[in-house]
Amino acid sequence: MAGELSPIDKAKFVAAKRAVDFVEDGMRVGLGTGSTAAWMVRCLGELVREEGLRITGVPTSARTAALAREVGIKVVSLDEAQWLDVTIDGADEYDSELNLIKGGGAALLQEKIVATASDQMIVIADIGKKVEKLGSFPLPVEVIPFGWQTTKALIEETLIGLDVMGRTTTLRMNGDIPVMTDEGNHIIDLHLNRIENARQLSLVMNQIPGVVENGLFIDICDAVVIGYGDGKVEVRDINSGTVEEDHIDFVENENLFSDL
Ligand code: 5RP
Repeated sequence: MAGELSPIDKAKFVAAKRAVDFVEDGMRVGLGTGSTAAWMVRCLGELVREEGLRITGVPTSARTAALAREVGIKVVSLDEAQWLDVTIDGADEYDSELNLIKGGGAALLQEKIVATASDQMIVIADIGKKVEKLGSFPLPVEVIPFGWQTTKALIEETLIGLDVMGRTTTLRMNGDIPVMTDEGNHIIDLHLNRIENARQLSLVMNQIPGVVENGLFIDICDAVVIGYGDGKVEVRDINSGTVEEDHIDFVENENLFSDL
């Protein structure tokens, strides 16, 4: 039940709950991946079931697709939807310009494609994700399995010429085996600590053969909904420059919390 949620989970929940206000009847909605995005999918599902909201969802991972179907959201592929009204997704870090690091859940490739194919991208996050400079969270880079060690070495060599504070890289593992993304690729995490020029880094990474995509989302996010453990929510819109404050009460809800 909501009362048993940790303050971070409460923060994620209220951000998700506030963010679904951006979704209107008839919209095509990109559905992000991760624990915060899962709250958003549950909240949307509740609106579909209880209030008859009609939406079409485009999930950014197999696990989000499964959850969306489970809660009653109609799911289609991006090719079927073609263009989306809004995408709501979590993030691992965001800065004051709403540039992001994403990919902690290894879904960055589909997430970036879906967010880019949307009129608006809304990020939902707890306040702990806010940073002055991106880079404390290791930057995920998706690489194809063929020759991944060579690609990793090339990434390390490329980092020497870039303004970052750390340059170690690690292949993301799931126990004894490399993590496999939904697209059948691997993830190399870049431990950079601080990225001085995220735009340049993103462009340079994507030029390395074997790199499919990196987790920097530059100029893609339009607004961030920041949740706090006490129910406070802030909506920061980068286009209008506005900041709105709200408060969301926790209401014990069987449907939303029963599977926790
Ligand atoms: C998945 C992501 C997630 O949105 C990001 O890792 C945040 O996850 P969480 O909401 O669980 O903190 O980018 O690839």
